[in-house]
Amino acid sequence: MESAPTISTRGLTRRFGELIAVDNIDLRVAPGQFFGFLGPNGAGKSTTIKMLTGLLAPSSGQIEILGLDLEKHPVEVKRQIGVVPEGMALFGRLTGSEFLTFAGRMYGLDRETAAKRTAELLDFMQLADQQKKLVTDYSHGMQKKLAMAAAVIHGPKVLFLDEPFEGVDAIAAGTLKAMLQGMIARGATIFLTSHVLEIVERLCSHVAIIHQGKLVAQGSLEELRAGVEAGTPGSGDSGSEGSRPSDEKMTLEQIFLRTVGGSRRAEHELSWLA
Ligand SMILES: Nc1ncnc2c1ncn2[C@@H]1O[C@H](COP(=O)(O)OP(=O)(O)O)[C@@H](O)[C@H]1O
Ligand SMILES: [Mg+2]
Repeated sequence: MESAPTISTRGLTRRFGELIAVDNIDLRVAPGQFFGFLGPNGAGKSTTIKMLTGLLAPSSGQIEILGLDLEKHPVEVKRQIGVVPEGMALFGRLTGSEFLTFAGRMYGLDRETAAKRTAELLDFMQLADQQKKLVTDYSHGMQKKLAMAAAVIHGPKVLFLDEPFEGVDAIAAGTLKAMLQGMIARGATIFLTSHVLEIVERLCSHVAIIHQGKLVAQGSLEELRAGVEAGTPGSGDSGSEGSRPSDEKMTLEQIFLRTVGGSRRAEHELSWLA
């Protein structure tokens, strides 16, 4: 039997003037899933994650996190989740150490616990030698690690990450992945967005693909492969285009390109480039 979802949306929609950035999407993420929300630039990923974490109000639709209606119980939900949004929302005038302790205190940790976890997180993220530096002077990758540390200091059950590996070096990416896999092993649920296929394919057990605000596929990697091969990716609208060379297993990249029709773009050329 399927357990109650950790994240679910019904008819989730966000308009910006004429533009429908997120168009009537029904998401379902079960407890313990490592869920990848994939889509090209401008597809609606950041807008969705902001709505799921209470940073942006939906135009219409419902969101439930951990069985709670987000609109009715925003504080109870926020207490139990961690988020690294687009832009990371750091405080540049604090040192790394001050920022983490502040984040811990905001989540209700006592002074001692906040200080202890701050030290552990700085150490884990290999930021211990940078802890006296102002956050504004951190490199982009260091800020990303700090934002991630702040998002987990209270031990959230659900973690939302917007493009967590963007601008992060290989060593830092390895550290972040190890942390995320550890959280999954201990029962957390992780929802991350990415436009990078390999990341999602390597880390995630379940995937949804968004394109022009619409959910075009959703399911386990295996279900998506099966769906594309049958001509209907996941549970969304059919995105298959034309015939398909059969037999070998589809990579997520093939699924992605087929679903969002990326192959068309290759026909256009920039005439002035050699
Ligand atoms: N605050 C905003 N005002 C107007 N348009 C926005 C705003 N935020 C996002 N958009 C538009 O919504 C669409 C989806 O954006 P976004 O969710 O950031 O995409 P993604 O994260 O998938 O790259 C884009 O066309 C973007 O320009
Ligand atoms: Mg984005």
